[in-house]
Amino acid sequence: MSEIDERHPAITPRRVKFDWADTPLHWIPGEPVATHFINVLHLLLPAGERWFVHVYKQTLPLVEDERLRKEIKGFMGQEAVHAYSHQGVLDRQMLAQGLDPRPLTRRVEWMFRHMLGDRPPLPVLTRRQWLNFRVGVIAGIEHYTAVLGQWILDARELDEAGADPTMMDLLRWHGAEEVEHRSVAFDVYQYVSGAYWRRFVTFFVGVLAMPLMVYAGAAYLCRADPTLKGVRPRVRDYRRAVRRGIFPGNRFMVAAARAYLRRDYHPSKECSTRKALDYLATSPAARAVGHKPE
Ligand SMILES: [Fe+2]
Ligand SMILES: [Fe+2]
Repeated sequence: MSEIDERHPAITPRRVKFDWADTPLHWIPGEPVATHFINVLHLLLPAGERWFVHVYKQTLPLVEDERLRKEIKGFMGQEAVHAYSHQGVLDRQMLAQGLDPRPLTRRVEWMFRHMLGDRPPLPVLTRRQWLNFRVGVIAGIEHYTAVLGQWILDARELDEAGADPTMMDLLRWHGAEEVEHRSVAFDVYQYVSGAYWRRFVTFFVGVLAMPLMVYAGAAYLCRADPTLKGVRPRVRDYRRAVRRGIFPGNRFMVAAARAYLRRDYHPSKECSTRKALDYLATSPAARAVGHKPE
């Protein structure tokens, strides 16, 4: 088996497809609330990942390093397929079974387009400073998508709980690609800005929003779910899911934050490209489009 360059594995999109016809609404059997905690990803990612691509189109002209440019293009290609694939869950898995996510996804779209759009929100900020800020936010989020990608690759408890295989393949294919391209956003940030203080500040902006969005998203999904009459996600549901190993806990998230805030942090020191490639070599969706293992 060849040595992997953890900083620069090859990054190319795999144009996967998923068929949602047999995936139940509660794809973790008997765990509707835990299902909706994870489903929040499908609400946020299509708009969020399209926003990454939009912002990176603006960074490309600033990057002269040929290798980084190539990695950015591979990253943009992968994120575009991720966004499209999670959109498929919204349209063909949730909506088809009577759960309408659109009132919330319209708000998420608005947030990315307007609050995090191209115009600086404060007159004291230049367009370039605002771009650096948004690139910093993306680097912080991409740290979490990578460590959560590794988490989902390793989460045997979800298989033991009987989670739907198509949904698990979507989440693990996506997680594996997040591990694969985990250095790109950080390297872009270092290239266009690199200031530690900005990494610190942007991380908190992105990360403090995360638990709020998970709670608000899960509460919305429970309300909109035609089979759950008036159920509300409670802290005890979250704790139970964490104890069962089917949702990442606070301890995991805080440890990941501490790793990111180290001055000598680099994403290549986190996660394992080998494990990601091993999964992609067996992923039904990746194999169906003829992706050849490394
Ligand atoms: Fe992604
Ligand atoms: Fe990503």
